Amino acid sequence: MNVLIFGSGGRESAFAWSIGQSSLLSNLFIAPGNPGMAAFGTCVDLDWRDRDAIVHFCIREDIHIVLVGPEEPLVLGLGDFFAEHPNLAHIHFIGPQAEAAQLEGSKDFAKAFMQRHGIPTAGYRSFTKNELEAAKMYVLSYDGPYVLKADGLAGGKGVVILDDVVEALKELDSMLGEAKFGPASSRVVIEEHLTGPEFSVFVLTDGENYLLLPQATDYKRVGEGQTGPNTGGMGAISPVPFVIPEVLGVVHREIIRPTIEGLQAEGIPYCGFIFFGLMLTPEGPKVIEYNVRMGDPETEAVLPRLDEDLLALMIDAARGHVNTRPVAVKSETAVTVVLTSPGYPGNYPKGLPIVGSELASEGSLLFHSGTALRDGQLVTDGGRVLAVTGMGSSAEEAIAKAYAHADQINFEGKQVRRDIGTIYGLPAKK
Ligand code: AMP
Ligand code: GLY
Repeated sequence: MNVLIFGSGGRESAFAWSIGQSSLLSNLFIAPGNPGMAAFGTCVDLDWRDRDAIVHFCIREDIHIVLVGPEEPLVLGLGDFFAEHPNLAHIHFIGPQAEAAQLEGSKDFAKAFMQRHGIPTAGYRSFTKNELEAAKMYVLSYDGPYVLKADGLAGGKGVVILDDVVEALKELDSMLGEAKFGPASSRVVIEEHLTGPEFSVFVLTDGENYLLLPQATDYKRVGEGQTGPNTGGMGAISPVPFVIPEVLGVVHREIIRPTIEGLQAEGIPYCGFIFFGLMLTPEGPKVIEYNVRMGDPETEAVLPRLDEDLLALMIDAARGHVNTRPVAVKSETAVTVVLTSPGYPGNYPKGLPIVGSELASEGSLLFHSGTALRDGQLVTDGGRVLAVTGMGSSAEEAIAKAYAHADQINFEGKQVRRDIGTIYGLPAKK
């Protein structure tokens, strides 16, 4: 099988690492990839927006299966393009088409879908830019915290949570009135504020049945103790101690199955990964968001625990041959720590030389994210630069291995959050 992965981050690095080990693999290409991924396959200068180049490339390299890492190409119809193009339609495409990708591409679509199918989620109201005054009246009608969400894709920045009503009114002006997130905030979803620890559940589905992958939780805030601004993710742990079988049973019954059956009932095909962002509230698990892809950095913790051939699973999904079951998983704990640029998630420099990345670290894997080669020197090239995943028979051991690895790699101003693996948000024990 010849495989093409679209993407260039830590998530795609973990995919390339995993697929690179498949006995079914002939050639692996990553577009555009990064210097670390060159160890697993061939990085190619191919832009997912360049449709003609994609057609030529896929024919020339006889691509059999395509996997899309990030959401944007899916929301903008890359899957539809493959399905509809006479020279590409035979290629297995892992990722939903644009209609189903609205589960992530439009919060309003996702909320209405959950409401139609009785899937537990925060209560909400949705307002367009023409309904700014109504949105303000709504906010004035209850006590905060106020959860305001831009409807469309906003690069992970579109959710604003405010305690103060005056701040919330100002934010509505900015989102709806002044198009703070461009067209993405021409509609805003205002949600009931939920509380509880968060976790991520991943499935690979053919639209009818699904494979349950290991769960994970990520660490979104930049600072220790869940403080500071939100980031793309500073680390992850898998498994998640509080996701006990009873919780998972409810997630299957009330969330995963109704989602897949809902898509089927509405005649919306889906082949690919679904990432359920969940909160364990006092009333049980509820959906915070859907993503139509795997998580980053969760993938870097989830895939090293997988005890099956990922490429074989993807081919089964593409052929519609999935049988609902949990996949085989290693019992070890995986802890992923992300090394970020100084200043991230704000402005940060690029091009800082990286040292120590060539050294192996026992029981830990290295995944490149924002790196580049400049005159043969590995340098920083993004906010999240590298991810290391420590594996251990306990969380403590996995944490120790991840930090031992993270500490032997250096660049000027390197930021590492030191409490990855700690579980936050659980109610205090009585
Ligand atoms: P999202 O971009 O939808 O993942 O939201 C970002 C973060 O905002 C989530 O990870 C939660 O921590 C928080 N959040 C989103 N929706 C809610 C909600 N209804 N109640 C409380 N927190 C929320
Ligand atoms: N780690 C959260 C995400 O990938 O959206």
